[in-house]
Amino acid sequence: MKVDVLLGLQWGDEGKGKIVDVLTPNYDIVTRFQGGPNAGHTLEFNHQKYVLRSVPSGIFQGEKINIIGNGVVLDPTLFKVEAEALAKSGHDITKRLLISKKAHLILPTHRLLDAAYEAAKGASKVGTTGKGIGPTYTDKVSRNGLRIGDILSDFKNKYDTLIARHKQILQSLNFEYTLEQLEKEWFEGIEYLKQFTFIDSEYEINRYLKEGKSILAEGAQGSMLDVDFGSYPFVTSSNTVCAGACTGLGIAPHKIGDVYGIFKAYCTRVGSGPFPTELHDEIGEKIGQIGHEFGAVTGRKRRCGWIDLVALKYTVMINGVTQLIMMKSDVLDSFDTIKACVAYRINGKETTRFPFETNTEIEPVYVEMKGWNTDMTQMQSESEFPKEFKDYIHFLEKELEVPIKIISIGPDRAQTIIR
Ligand code: GDP
Ligand code: IMO
Ligand code: MG
Repeated sequence: MKVDVLLGLQWGDEGKGKIVDVLTPNYDIVTRFQGGPNAGHTLEFNHQKYVLRSVPSGIFQGEKINIIGNGVVLDPTLFKVEAEALAKSGHDITKRLLISKKAHLILPTHRLLDAAYEAAKGASKVGTTGKGIGPTYTDKVSRNGLRIGDILSDFKNKYDTLIARHKQILQSLNFEYTLEQLEKEWFEGIEYLKQFTFIDSEYEINRYLKEGKSILAEGAQGSMLDVDFGSYPFVTSSNTVCAGACTGLGIAPHKIGDVYGIFKAYCTRVGSGPFPTELHDEIGEKIGQIGHEFGAVTGRKRRCGWIDLVALKYTVMINGVTQLIMMKSDVLDSFDTIKACVAYRINGKETTRFPFETNTEIEPVYVEMKGWNTDMTQMQSESEFPKEFKDYIHFLEKELEVPIKIISIGPDRAQTIIR
């Protein structure tokens, strides 16, 4: 068997959580392969809403196994809060969630360093989620990090060594902080984590595949936030693209099956950085209002704009997307005109490539289509879709050269049309 990968094609928040939940019945195992609690994945069903940060979105469907892979960074404090909230709502995850020994730990000082580095950047700050993601991956790559498996032996010594390093850096940045309470909560989180099973996830995942089990890998963030291919330096610190599933789980490239690329019928971004199709007008406001475009966890207002096919074609290419999933189509239900960006004009020249240098004026070149002005939220099948919406789907499929297999028309699990 192979691992199917579901990942965001834009700047995150495409609706990955909802669709992983919808697809989970088709799989035995759901696994996260990168990112950490910078993610906020929303699921809605039975009039209940859940936001997951580190726990894979397969956790609500039957007795499926969920795995936090080696490529993930885990914050014990936030993980405890998340898992306890799930338990309170009747979802005990302790027996259904396995955690890789090689996943890296986010220390309380990583969060402080995140804040200190952002403050030092001033106006050019990334606008991170403040969860210590960058500093944790930095320690991983510079070979100083602490891993889940370290909890099992000589942990306090390893912790003290790393904390001492962090304190030195914080001091050099003149960053004021108090650590006591953060440390207390963090060690409570470590104790809480001990009831979970820590695994050699690369061995287990490959064993599952050999046994014929099907696996869905759930991406976090989006491809335009990838540390290599995103709008650098306004990116996250992991490989969010498909290749990240290989390194974040320990599977060979030929073990990748379908690649589901998920995108909104328009586009959003939270945090700083280039966003060529961003709308600074009442249309952008309207999309944000109807789409409730506020961060799932941080509550930050998301920037909104029209769909960007230059960026989407790029991420379809990088990921080798085999099936597309379009989300939040209903948010465009009341617009007379829909626009799609098909090229950029930079210094008077048109291009269909996402440029290396984004620090210049990028003017989107749009095609305009007639809106459908129809409420689609209660529709049950594709045959009910208005003609103008069908035209939009066909236009996107032709441009992106990949079929759109799932169309989402509302946040609930049930508001999903599979073609
Ligand atoms: P993720 O990070 O990719 O899982 O996405 P988020 O959960 O951060 O953001 C997606 C938001 O859109 C959530 O509030 C979802 O409940 C909501 N959502 C998902 N699909 C749809 C849809 O088709 N229509 C509408 N109106 N909302 C949706
Ligand atoms: P999900 O999985 C949207 C953005 C931050 C910031 C940049 C770097 O819910 O789609 P970081 O804290 O990772 O160092 O921040 O990346 N960002 C996200 N934007 N959705 C996310 O996750 C994000 N995770 C990080 O806003 O611009
Ligand atoms: Mg999100």
